[in-house]
Amino acid sequence: MSFLSTSLARVKPSPTIAVTNKARELKAAGKDVIGLGAGEPDFDTPENVKAAAKAAIDAGKTKYTAVDGIPELKEAICAKFKRDNGLDYTPEQVSVGTGGKQILINALMATLNPGDEVIIPAPYWVSYPDMVLLAGGEPVIAEASMQTGFKLTADQLEAAITPKTKWFIFNSPSNPTGAGYTHAELKELTDVLLRHPHVWVMTDDMYEHLVYGDFEFCTPAQVEPKLYDRTLTCNGVSKAYAMTGWRIGYAAGPKDLIAAMRKIQSQSTSNPCSISQWAAVEALNGTQDYIPTNNATFQRRRDMVVDMLNAAEGISCPMPEGAFYVYPSIAGCIGKTSAGGAKISDDEAFATALLEEKGVAVVFGAAFGLSPNFRVSYATSDEALKEACTRIQDFCASLS
Ligand SMILES: Cc1ncc(COP(=O)(O)O)c(C=O)c1O
Repeated sequence: MSFLSTSLARVKPSPTIAVTNKARELKAAGKDVIGLGAGEPDFDTPENVKAAAKAAIDAGKTKYTAVDGIPELKEAICAKFKRDNGLDYTPEQVSVGTGGKQILINALMATLNPGDEVIIPAPYWVSYPDMVLLAGGEPVIAEASMQTGFKLTADQLEAAITPKTKWFIFNSPSNPTGAGYTHAELKELTDVLLRHPHVWVMTDDMYEHLVYGDFEFCTPAQVEPKLYDRTLTCNGVSKAYAMTGWRIGYAAGPKDLIAAMRKIQSQSTSNPCSISQWAAVEALNGTQDYIPTNNATFQRRRDMVVDMLNAAEGISCPMPEGAFYVYPSIAGCIGKTSAGGAKISDDEAFATALLEEKGVAVVFGAAFGLSPNFRVSYATSDEALKEACTRIQDFCASLS
C-alpha cells in the first residue's frame, strides 16, 4: 500500500508551474527563452503599500493575529465590497487567508463530502478541479465554447446541475481566457441558479479590477441579491495590486460558512502573515489611482498581442474583456509538422515545439480543459511580447 494518501493520488501537479519551471531551466542552460506563462503582473507593489508593511514591522505588528484576519483588514474589506460591488457585509462575514488559493480550498474543505459535485466551467483555472479532488469532491466540467466567447450558457449550466451539486464555481474575468461576463450574461446564469436552491455559488473575482474598454465588472450576489445567502464572494489583492508574493486573499459570505473556514485555517496556517495584512489594509483603503494606469498598459498589450496572433497562420485569437490572458485557438495548425520535425497533433505538442524551436513558453490548452488552444499571459514587457509574437508568427509560417 502506498504511504501517500489516496486523495493525493487523484491530484496532478500544476501544469502552469511546470511550464514556468521548464522555461527557467532552459534559460539557466543559456537558451534565449521568453516566458509567457506567468500569472502575475510585472509591475512592482505600489510604494504606499510597501511603506505600510515597513511601518507594520517597525511598530512590532509581527505576532500571531486573529485566525481569519485583523479587524482593520476586515473593515477595509467590508468597505471595498460596499464601494465596488454595492454588497453589504459585516466583519464576521469576512475571512482573510494566505492568498485567494487558501480561501478557495478552505471553503471546499469546509463543505464537501464524498460524492458532492462541483460545477466548473471550462476553460478553467488549473487549480479548481484539483482543489475539489483534494477536498474529496467530484469536479463536473461544463465546457464553454470559443463561439460563445468562452462563456457558459444558461442551458449548459442547467444541464450540469444534479441533486448532488453543491457548488458552482464562477470566475470572471477568467483565467485562462480573460473572458468577462456582462450583467445580462451573468443574469442568465443566476436565473438558472434561482431554480436550484441547493446549489451554492463560489465566485472568484480575483481579476475584478483588470477590465478594459467599456466592460463593466459584476458579481453574482450583486446581479441577483436573492443568491446572497448562498454565495461566497472571493477576491484578493494579488493581481490588482501586484501583491502575489504577499499572499492575501479574502472572501465574504454567510457567517456559518465563514466560521467553518476559520476552523480549518486555525488548524492549518493559524493566520495570514501579519505584515501582509497591514499592507493589504493600505492597498484597499489607500489610493486606487495606479489601477487605471496599469490597466492602460495591459490594454495596450492585449490589443497588440491579439492583433499579432491573429496575423499568425492557423491561429485565431478572440479579444478578451479582462485579466491579462488571451486564449487563441490553434485549430488551423493541427496535423502540420514544424520545421524541427515535430508533428503538431495537439496543443501540448504545439507548445512543446514552440518552446524548443523558438524559445517561447506558453501553457497548452488541455491544462485548462479546452483544446486546441494555448494561453498567453501578457503581463510582461511590450518588447518581450512583440518579440514572442513575432516568433510565434515565424513558427506558424514554418509549419507544413
Ligand atoms: C482565477 C484565479 N483565482 C485565484 C488565484 C490565486 O490567487 P492568489 O495568488 O491570491 O492565491 C489565481 C492566481 O493565479 C487565479 O488566476
